[in-house]
Amino acid sequence: MKKRPFIIDCDTGTDDAIAIIAALGCEEMEVIGITSCSGNVPEQTVARNNLNLIEYLERDIPVCHGAWMPLSGSGSMHAEDHIHGSQGLGSVVLNDAVSHSFDPRIASQFIYEKAVQYQGELELLVTGPMTNIAITILEHPDFCDYVKHLYFMGGSAIGGNVNTSAEFNIWVDPEAVHTVLFSSVACTMVGLDVTNLTVMTEKEEEILRSFGTKEGTLAADLMHYMMHRENPEFYLARMHDPLALASAVFPQCMKYQDCFIDTETRGTYTRGHTAADLRNKLQKEVNVSIAMELDFPMFRNWLLERIQKAGETD
Ligand code: BDR
Ligand code: CA
Repeated sequence: MKKRPFIIDCDTGTDDAIAIIAALGCEEMEVIGITSCSGNVPEQTVARNNLNLIEYLERDIPVCHGAWMPLSGSGSMHAEDHIHGSQGLGSVVLNDAVSHSFDPRIASQFIYEKAVQYQGELELLVTGPMTNIAITILEHPDFCDYVKHLYFMGGSAIGGNVNTSAEFNIWVDPEAVHTVLFSSVACTMVGLDVTNLTVMTEKEEEILRSFGTKEGTLAADLMHYMMHRENPEFYLARMHDPLALASAVFPQCMKYQDCFIDTETRGTYTRGHTAADLRNKLQKEVNVSIAMELDFPMFRNWLLERIQKAGETD
């Protein structure tokens, strides 16, 4: 099978890490790089998590540093420590990488060079704020011509998780998302409308442990942390980022609606809001396909299988 080349741009992050593990078990995709963006934790911590993860899982995938603050330059905003833990991986502590080192290129340079190298075949999975992608677009005007598709976790048509209207990834850098949405890159948005439905339980944790692999156990440990956060009412083991991965390689587990979307970059209550014109009131050109319905059992089984598959190379 011809593999589809993907770069994962992320803010690892408990659920980002599970998305990376699952991606390694997707035979239809080849992860050709992982780029880091400030989000759940500061960029330096995200990048270190990505590198340690790749070494721990014994893969040979380039890992790059990336943006450490949003486009507006108004300082970084991070998730509160009790969401992903102060180091981003909950209670999981990975050894510092000794045999892998960072790719010398910054994310925007790496992403652009790979896009040109793959001549229109490159696809992007973004599971954190969109800063690196926006910088790539702004620095390289021809970049969009080379990108096949961008799948992202972010936004919501129904309401936010940081405040009444903003989802975290968009809230961190709404200007970046605006830049991407108004570029010519084809986008699929997987937001809280569907990701809030992806709650995992002890049952899934047990299945992952039963695989007896590094990949299964690590995913189980991350889920375990998520299930035991301080406030279980709000901080369940939701697979936000793995669902964005599913939209790229297992799209049949969701139903989508094409529409125009923009992000609020101002507003007392609404900065970071994703205004989704689902009823086409604005009569503007469609710029996104949004996931609106999920077949949860289908997704859950697929995710467990992908993580199992990822461990088969052990
Ligand atoms: C998103 O925010 C982060 O906390 C998660 O990793 C996910 O990408 C959910 O709003
Ligand atoms: Ca994330």
